[in-house]
Amino acid sequence: MTSDKKFNPDELKQFLQNKYGSGVQVEIFPKTQQEQTDETDETEQRRSQALDFDYKPSQIKEYLDRYVIQQDDAKKVLATAICDHYHHIQSCAGEQECRDYKKQNIIVIGPTGVGKTYLVQNIAGLIGVPFVKADSTKYSETGYVGGDVEDLIRELVHQARGDIKLAESGIVYLDEIDKIATPMSVLGRDVSGHGVQRGLLKLMEETEVPLRSPTDIASQMQAFMEFQSKGQVEKKTISTKHILFIVSGAFTGLSELIKKRLGSQQIGFMGSGKSTEEERFLLERVKAVDFIEYGFEAEFIGRLPVVVHCNSLSVEDMFKILRYSEGSLLKQYKKDFQAYGVDVYFTDRGMRAIGEEAETEQIGARGLITVCERVFREYKYQLPDHEVKEFIVGQTMIKNPNEKLQELLDNPTMYHTKILQFQLGKVEQEFSDQYGLDIKFTPEAAQLIIERAEESGTDLFTYCTRFFKAYEHGLNLLRKTASKKKFLVDEQGIRNPEETVERWIRETYS
Ligand SMILES: Nc1ncnc2c1ncn2[C@@H]1O[C@H](COP(=O)(O)OP(=O)(O)O)[C@@H](O)[C@H]1O
Ligand SMILES: [Mg+2]
Repeated sequence: MTSDKKFNPDELKQFLQNKYGSGVQVEIFPKTQQEQTDETDETEQRRSQALDFDYKPSQIKEYLDRYVIQQDDAKKVLATAICDHYHHIQSCAGEQECRDYKKQNIIVIGPTGVGKTYLVQNIAGLIGVPFVKADSTKYSETGYVGGDVEDLIRELVHQARGDIKLAESGIVYLDEIDKIATPMSVLGRDVSGHGVQRGLLKLMEETEVPLRSPTDIASQMQAFMEFQSKGQVEKKTISTKHILFIVSGAFTGLSELIKKRLGSQQIGFMGSGKSTEEERFLLERVKAVDFIEYGFEAEFIGRLPVVVHCNSLSVEDMFKILRYSEGSLLKQYKKDFQAYGVDVYFTDRGMRAIGEEAETEQIGARGLITVCERVFREYKYQLPDHEVKEFIVGQTMIKNPNEKLQELLDNPTMYHTKILQFQLGKVEQEFSDQYGLDIKFTPEAAQLIIERAEESGTDLFTYCTRFFKAYEHGLNLLRKTASKKKFLVDEQGIRNPEETVERWIRETYS
């Protein structure tokens, strides 16, 4: 409240109770000075982030690679379109010359659960613009109510914490856009989808959306508060001119239409049934006419000039998602178990087995969640009541989770030795990644370092990492100069590592 007429909570209470009856209990906590300052600071920061957009497409792709497995083409096309869009917004800050610019709204095609939403979410997160995600079915099923699609734009303002300028450079993501297609049927075109397309068309183009929904109580309340403090209600609108629209869908049946248009003689996949390869081949050739045939208005499709394809995921991809994605859901599982003091380790074979099971679900990477939930449900329930402090998830556990659970409960330390080997394996792996050295522990050396780790109360991997950190210099030297890269760590290597590293260096020079 910047006006001199102070906001009065009691007046608002009175107003609401008059309007909605005394049954309505209202508590209003005005913001403290600190809260207000915090909020402004944060908004300022986010605004400058959005306006200081300074990425190259390859940088965005690199970031996406950390989270999203595969979908390389999609990453490139998305990254490029996003860069164009935000560079354009920046150049428009000086007004004028952007009048003829065609906005690069994007349509993403691909089966369910392969990363369409995840890609866009990550991009929005990286560049720090407000991001709103909605499901198109929400509009087609309830029947189209005039204001509904505009709520998406108002939600952007909410995401931007009231910063309209920032909201005006946000991203709106609409999933399941294929559900508002209106295919020709015997009864003619279905009208509800048609209405939604019209509504969206207006937003995608350029329009002013009122900040306050005429049908929403909360925004009317805000109007009242403003009236109280300023003596008038300012009429605010949000321009959709620079809001980027990304829509996505699985578009089942679209490839059939493309096939029909191309004529079967042009395609080399005759009679081979519906392979994913053929599907991809066809979808990559999609044209506006196919979307129109599918049930979209020409103007609607015309506003979506960038087409992005996402491919279905193989078992190997699923494995990589678990193993390498920074967003891997296994991190979540590890944490969940750690909350009960249980350490869980996943072997590569275990992760592949999860991938295999997940693939049969036919819902893309979402199948990974389904499988993990099914496999670990009982573990999560039972382990907190037992002695078990650690276990390894391998292939057999994924295939027979309940049998393995029983074994584990009967013998809580059954994995102990294996976990130590597993951790030593990880240490060896780390050596090869970090120093390019191929090391192996002799059984005696392994025994000794395990004992020491146990005495110090740290887990073996952490202990080893710290242990060898002290000899980093010598090891780096070996990485750079050694011709020989294979070394055996014996008992002496643990008792007197400095001398051992020196000996290795000497050996490589002789
Ligand atoms: N290619 C991928 N790489 C990494 N994780 C993925 C990938 N595809 C899907 N996921 C995971 O599956 C979840 C669901 O994917 P999502 O992007 O919502 O699917 P959709 O393609 O149906 O929009 C994501 O939140 C993410 O955790
Ligand atoms: Mg999605």
